[in-house]
Amino acid sequence: MSIGSRITGVGSYVPPKVLTNFDIEEMMETSDEWIQQRTGIKQRRWVEENVSTSDLAVEASKKAIENAGLTKDDIDMIIFATLSPDHDFPGTGCFLQAKLEMPAISVLDIRQQCSGFLYGLSIADNFIKAGTHKNILLVGAEIHSKGLDKTPEGRNVAVLFGDGAGAVVVSRTEVNSPTDSHIINHFLYADGAHAKELWLPAPGNAFGAERINKAMLDEKLQYPQMNGRNVFIHATKCMAKVLGEALQRSGTDINDVDIFLFHQANLRINQKVAEILQIPEEKVFNTIQDFANTTAATIPIGMDEAIKAGKLKPGMLVASAAFGSGFTWASALWRQ
Ligand SMILES: CC(C)(COP(=O)(O)OP(=O)(O)OC[C@H]1O[C@@H](n2cnc3c(N)ncnc32)[C@H](O)[C@@H]1OP(=O)(O)O)[C@@H](O)C(=O)NCCC(=O)NCCS
Repeated sequence: MSIGSRITGVGSYVPPKVLTNFDIEEMMETSDEWIQQRTGIKQRRWVEENVSTSDLAVEASKKAIENAGLTKDDIDMIIFATLSPDHDFPGTGCFLQAKLEMPAISVLDIRQQCSGFLYGLSIADNFIKAGTHKNILLVGAEIHSKGLDKTPEGRNVAVLFGDGAGAVVVSRTEVNSPTDSHIINHFLYADGAHAKELWLPAPGNAFGAERINKAMLDEKLQYPQMNGRNVFIHATKCMAKVLGEALQRSGTDINDVDIFLFHQANLRINQKVAEILQIPEEKVFNTIQDFANTTAATIPIGMDEAIKAGKLKPGMLVASAAFGSGFTWASALWRQ
């Protein structure tokens, strides 16, 4: 017998407002055909003006805690992954904690962008194995819509992103057999040499005293900048490699995996990863068509959607991989 962790609750929340590719066509020179062909995206959710990232997280968290059969008082740590926080500081996890009216516990915000959820899962697993925590709420939540360049100049990035939140509860468990529900392994990587291939430059302390000025606004440095082609190439290679590492290090045959929950950046990236590893397409569960890229939220939203669709059930072997800004990339293997 060993002590490990397992996912005991899952929840997600997306804002009600749907923006189809045809709605985006009204804002900038693009087309449903271009977006679908290049990315698979058909629609995304965007928040109304007065909604914050922690508001989305509240809804997803409540569902995950309830789904775990727990109450907010059972949670002894929050890990919050986002690149679109409510404010510069404190971390959005503290705002979530206050909104949920939770007692004093440890709260940790992490900044690993599209790999944020898997980094968070690894941190949760390690805290639980260290014996200091029992039930950790791990949340990925993003509001991209408020920070996109919605003019024709921003079309290469703006069409890709949506708003949403997903949450899981990671709980202490006894592992007696490999088929028991538990997190099997996780591998985390980053290579900051590519930090400026996908980034949000301003406002920032790397600039002058004012952090942002008129010239920088005119240059549109307050919007994400991306070298799409390079991101695509690295994403396919890194996701396939890190997933291969998860399987090989655990002695798992790829055919024994029941479902693959990949980060949702681009349907074509996921199809390419499946092709490299010879994974049958029907085993990869994608949600990008409906929600676009919600960064740290894509994997927990995918889990929740897969459960609702009857494609993710207790006892299944799940493999996950993600890639994003940093560059960062990660994988995890778990028994649901
Ligand atoms: C963004 C992405 C779909 C662009 O596809 P691409 O084939 O690389 O396209 P390019 O950027 O080379 O642009 C091709 C043409 O489409 C145009 N274009 C770009 N965005 C467009 C849009 N939204 N609508 C219509 N045309 C567009 C470009 O201007 C270019 O036109 P040109 O040939 O006349 O210069 C693709 O690079 C990608 O998905 N990369 C990964 C991005 C990602 O996943 N980011 C998040 C990582 S977590």
